[in-house]
Amino acid sequence: MSGSKSATRNSRRPPENGASPRGRYWRVLALSLGSGAVFAVLFYLWGRELFPRAAGRWGGTFPFVGAVALTLAVALFLSEWFGFAGREVRKVRLAARDSLFLCSLALLLFFAAKAVIDLLAEIPALEHGVPTRVYAYLIPLPAFAMVVRVLINSETSILFTVAASVLAAAAASGSWPALLFLLLAGTAGAARARRVPDRYRMLLVGAQTAPVCALAAAALEFSFHGGGGVLWAGIFGAVNGLLSGPIALAVMPVAESAFGYASDIRLMELSGTGHPLLSRLMMETPGTFHHSVMVGTLAEAGAIAIGANPVLCRVAALYHDIGKLVKPQYYSENQAGVENVHDAMSPGLSRAVILSHVKEGVRMAGEFRLGDRITEIIGQHHGTSILYCFLDKARPLIQDRKASEEMFRYPGPKPKTREAAIIMLADATEAAVRSLGRPTPQEVDETVTGIVNRIYFDGQLNECDLTLRDLHAVGRAISQVLAAVAHGRVDYPEAGKGAV
Ligand SMILES: [Fe+2]
Ligand SMILES: [Fe+2]
Repeated sequence: MSGSKSATRNSRRPPENGASPRGRYWRVLALSLGSGAVFAVLFYLWGRELFPRAAGRWGGTFPFVGAVALTLAVALFLSEWFGFAGREVRKVRLAARDSLFLCSLALLLFFAAKAVIDLLAEIPALEHGVPTRVYAYLIPLPAFAMVVRVLINSETSILFTVAASVLAAAAASGSWPALLFLLLAGTAGAARARRVPDRYRMLLVGAQTAPVCALAAAALEFSFHGGGGVLWAGIFGAVNGLLSGPIALAVMPVAESAFGYASDIRLMELSGTGHPLLSRLMMETPGTFHHSVMVGTLAEAGAIAIGANPVLCRVAALYHDIGKLVKPQYYSENQAGVENVHDAMSPGLSRAVILSHVKEGVRMAGEFRLGDRITEIIGQHHGTSILYCFLDKARPLIQDRKASEEMFRYPGPKPKTREAAIIMLADATEAAVRSLGRPTPQEVDETVTGIVNRIYFDGQLNECDLTLRDLHAVGRAISQVLAAVAHGRVDYPEAGKGAV
């Protein structure tokens, strides 16, 4: 990669959900009214217990006055905190969907915390010998922090853990040991949920969190209240950690279906060829299916090389060209042994058909609920790159000013994530190297370098966080895999002449 322009890591993106000032105003108003209503319900249910002094002063109007005051305080807190974090930490620029998800999760946690504490207090067997304060060590914050890390990212899970700890500690009458425990346990859970490709791994994360929770609970109980409930605190802390895996596994499918997220577990499920879209791709467009599997292998290698998400790269690559299912015969990889239909078509018509596979792919991804991460990659895998194969054919039209080069560009958007950029690079290089037949490793390397440079200088990587170092590493990884595949191809012996 010979280009040496400044790195793109610090490039500023416009807000993902950039709404007009008027739209933003209505959204803030709706959000405020919504949160006010939720807080009013909470105050009505538990206000007297949680804020006895304020409840005594305000009498019957307490739930409403308290709700308005708390909404204002929470709104200020969230706008200051997430506003600051969103400006300075790129990964915390949350879309409206993420904010709604986090708020729902925090509220669910509050209800879960209240339910745990109130229900345990009702059990007669626990009444004697177990101090009620240790019930707080069962508040399932580790599970929720793990869910946020798996579905959004680590930065957001840290912020969520802090905000949700405060809210959940309120359910435990705002005690210091509860708050400190929740902060620690949530962080421990989120820290261990780095890559979770299957359910077993999620259970393992919970099991690894359990000793930390047990130790933290016992130590906090001992330091704040002496030796009385240390054993129970340790047991409850351990149970909390052990249950965090199953609870996270129960919450995740609901969150995925309601908010359109796709965890690595869901991605692994989608990678099976039993999925109707992949079966159709395999049966109806074997050329595209083979190309997609190859792109997946290359993208996975590229992702591993720079610490991006290899599961997302491999699975999104499998689906990146599903839009070709609509008119498979128009794509070169499915034309083996048949006439090229584009020979009899105008370049404009060919362009329209080929460009449509991105739009069709996004539509089908929505229809089959593949999740936002895969859908976005399908929409971005060609960025705004030029359709070179028909550009040459259209040269006479361009010279006569009946067409322009810009018309032969994909509509975009450009890749927004490292994973989308890796798939764009893998897609373009796979197609180029395939057309070489049986290249030498050096030819493969030169072709990959040429394609990567072309994509870079065309500005296709301007909106993602791939650094020049990453770009070089991805190019090298793709080149190595392609060279190995080209070298590994063997000519089958003619019938009757070779070994059996
Ligand atoms: Fe494509
Ligand atoms: Fe492709």
